[in-house]
Formats: sequence, C-alpha cells, structure tokens
Amino acid sequence: MNAAQLLSSIFYAVVLMGSLVSSYPTGAPAGACTSLNPDSHGPSTAKGPSPYEITFSPTTYQPGQNIKVTLSGAQFKGFLIVGRKAEDTSMTNVGFFQTPTTPAAQLQCTTGKEGNGVTHTNNTVKSSITLDWKAPSSAVGDIVFHFTTVRGGAPSVKVNPSDYYMDQKSSPLKSASDEVLRFEKEVDDINVLETSEEEDEEIVYTVPSYK
Ligand SMILES: *[C@@H]1O[C@H](CO)[C@@H](O)[C@H](O)[C@H]1NC(C)=O
Repeated sequence: MNAAQLLSSIFYAVVLMGSLVSSYPTGAPAGACTSLNPDSHGPSTAKGPSPYEITFSPTTYQPGQNIKVTLSGAQFKGFLIVGRKAEDTSMTNVGFFQTPTTPAAQLQCTTGKEGNGVTHTNNTVKSSITLDWKAPSSAVGDIVFHFTTVRGGAPSVKVNPSDYYMDQKSSPLKSASDEVLRFEKEVDDINVLETSEEEDEEIVYTVPSYK
C-alpha cells in the first residue's frame, strides 16, 4: 500500500466511523413516529431480552389526567416514546407529552398526528427519564406506550448505535372511567339482588367521583 492508498483508506475509515456514531444524536426524526424504527442505525444487533421498561404513575387514568411516565432499566443514550390505544391498529399516537422539564428530552411527532412523542436531545448517557403525559380528553380505553431505546454506557463502553430495542410495549395504562363503569354495573347487580323497595337508596352505592 502506498502513501496515497493509506491516506485514502484512513479517510474512508474516518467517514464510516463518523456516520456510525452520528446516527440521531439530537433525537429521533419525525419519520420514526409511526414505526419507531431508528432507520439510520441499521438493523438491531441488540442481544438478549430488553432491560428497558416503562412504568407510570398513577396506574390508571382519567380523561385529561397527567400521568408520570418513566423509562428505566439500564443506561441508554437515545429513545422515542409515544402513547397508543392498546387496541390500536392504525399506528396513531394518542395523548400528549408535556414540554419536558429535563434538558435530556424534547417533544417529537408534533405534526400531522393526533398525539405527540418524546425523544432525546443529545447522546449523553442517561439511566432513567420521567415525563408528563396528558391523557386524551375523553376515555379511549387502555393505553400502551410504545418505545425504542438505544443502549449507551454500561455494560459496553463502546459506541454502538445498532444496539437498540425497537417498538417495545409497556403494560397497559388502564382507563379509570372504564373501571368505575364496571364497578357501577356490579353495584347495580347487588342492588337487584337486594331488591330494595326504595329506588333512591341505590344512590348510596354510587361512586361519588363519577358523573
Ligand atoms: C445533553 O443532555 C444533558 C441531559 O441528559 C444536559 O444536561 C446537557 O445540557 C445536554 N448538552 C447539550 C450540549 O445540549
């Protein structure tokens, strides 16, 4: 190999490395809002079950309620999270993430979609992140959060943008209104069994917060 060839291979190696580590350091692009696919990272090379999970508080929602949504489980660099109806078949995001109070996250998926999403702002290593998500203004049944996470930090210190888990689903965030409706139905059944003479007495069984 002569000097020119050597320089040329170094040049290509540097360009290749640059493209591998660049990926989406400043957040997932809007194009990933439907598929949650971090295309430019290439096919996933992640091994084993995902260490990442999404938890939320409270564990049921009322229409319009703010829910704290936390992504954690292992260190990560990049992420994209959206909310969807559990029974969704149209890949439509629902609910709205509020403007994050942490500098590590920013809104995404804000155009042409019913709901938005959140993604990272840069590729510093994070171990968990908590975001506020506002439920749709009417109950839409159970919600599931879909998320893609790109690993960063331990156990590997090497930069590896293809070490990602795509379109994982959280456990369902249940609609509290549905629960109240189910409970009221059970209360009705009890009332029927008791065969109260006075219709008005049924009011004592009604859940006070439900109209
Ligand atoms: C990168 O994100 C961290 C939070 O993870 C934040 O503290 C820091 O300011 C950000 N850096 C830049 C250059 O935006």
